[in-house]
Amino acid sequence: MDRQFDICVVGGGGHVGLPLAVSFANAGQQVVIYDINHAVLDTIQSGIVPFMEAGCEPILREVLGKTLFASSLKESIRQSRFVVVVIGTPVDEHLNPTFGQMWTFLNGIQPYLHQDHIVILRSTVFPGLTEKIDTLLRRRIPGIRTCFCPERILEGRAMEELSSLPQIVSGFDPDAIEKVGRLFALLTKEIVVLSPLEAELAKLFTNSWRYIHFAIANQFYMIAEEFGLDFYRIYDALIRDYPRGRGFPRPGFAAGPCLFKDTMQLSASSEHRFFLGHSAMLVNEGLPDFLIKVTKRQHDLSEMTVGILGMSFKAESDDTRESLSYKLRKLLVIEAGHVICSDEHVRDPTFLSAEETVLKSDILFIGAPHIRYKTVDFMGKPVIDVWNLLGKHGLTLGFENEGVK
Ligand SMILES: NC(=O)c1ccc[n+]([C@@H]2O[C@H](COP(=O)([O-])OP(=O)(O)OC[C@H]3O[C@@H](n4cnc5c(N)ncnc54)[C@H](O)[C@@H]3O)[C@@H](O)[C@H]2O)c1
Repeated sequence: MDRQFDICVVGGGGHVGLPLAVSFANAGQQVVIYDINHAVLDTIQSGIVPFMEAGCEPILREVLGKTLFASSLKESIRQSRFVVVVIGTPVDEHLNPTFGQMWTFLNGIQPYLHQDHIVILRSTVFPGLTEKIDTLLRRRIPGIRTCFCPERILEGRAMEELSSLPQIVSGFDPDAIEKVGRLFALLTKEIVVLSPLEAELAKLFTNSWRYIHFAIANQFYMIAEEFGLDFYRIYDALIRDYPRGRGFPRPGFAAGPCLFKDTMQLSASSEHRFFLGHSAMLVNEGLPDFLIKVTKRQHDLSEMTVGILGMSFKAESDDTRESLSYKLRKLLVIEAGHVICSDEHVRDPTFLSAEETVLKSDILFIGAPHIRYKTVDFMGKPVIDVWNLLGKHGLTLGFENEGVK
């Protein structure tokens, strides 16, 4: 007889899918990861998490082969009760969402779907897409049900946040909503039920709100710098013992695989009239340009070797997707004599160690504020540190940046 699973996590080799699959397997569910990336599946099957995700690997090793399995065969979809879909949902070069990957995927798995399936969309989707997918699937497979349960974790802290955050559950069928609610209740205490459209917007609002927050800090940083002032002195003063200043983010590169994309998805869904979102994008994406402009006022970069420390999109991460450090590098390649890079967590044979980068550079930029750079000897060389990782600015020393998602 066929093997049966409770859950198939499609795209389960990815940053969102794998921690979720491991968490469900750890909660006693029979879980199969289905992914098209064979290299990633091999890595997972050898008990290794292919990216940095705190606390995930020890649990992966515990559940592997007992309650967690991995497969590149679509058959695993047919063998499961719930099908959780977590494949990527990018925006194109014109900042519009792309549906191609999702349609191709849905068409491809159709022969493996049946009327008892509950399909749970967990990818971040364009508003209204859950309903379109539900209609499409039900037309072809009467009885099948679709839910949308957005992922809201902070990448790198999924194992902790899957159980600490309330889970939004949405769908069109009360029985499916209840079943999916019970499923997620295995991971977390609080289940919040919304309609699919509400849930889709809740997810996009969450990331856009965060992106705009970072943009405010970045814009204020640029304003203070243009006045020739140390932004962090003003920042330290304004947040000190001031309750309304709580949650005021610090400046830094706001990037990564979600914030920019989700803000643009929200804008595309509102006739590109999400002016705050677009402004946030211009500010955040303009920060590398601004840093170079200000640096050039004091240093002639054209003859200099410039080092970038930290290429991932945020601190203590190995994820380089949409990292602004790469944009910084691209701009510096035009402006500087030579550019060299380093990262504590990103594997790239062209990168040097932090020490070698400092030694060979005339000036340095902190791209991603990995904590280790706090203890690097910069040999008295100038360091452009928008994050204030080194604590050289402001009224107080210290670094409390929570990072960006
Ligand atoms: N990364 C985050 O922190 C985060 C947080 C919340 C939501 N999301 C959303 O989750 C979704 C996935 O993001 P991610 O960061 O996990 O992406 P990812 O690229 O890390 O993972 C996607 C996985 O899907 C697999 N895949 C692609 N096409 C497939 C197919 N047709 N069949 C089977 N597997 C396929 C890929 O091989 C990959 O392993 C996106 O919609 C994203 O917006 C991401």
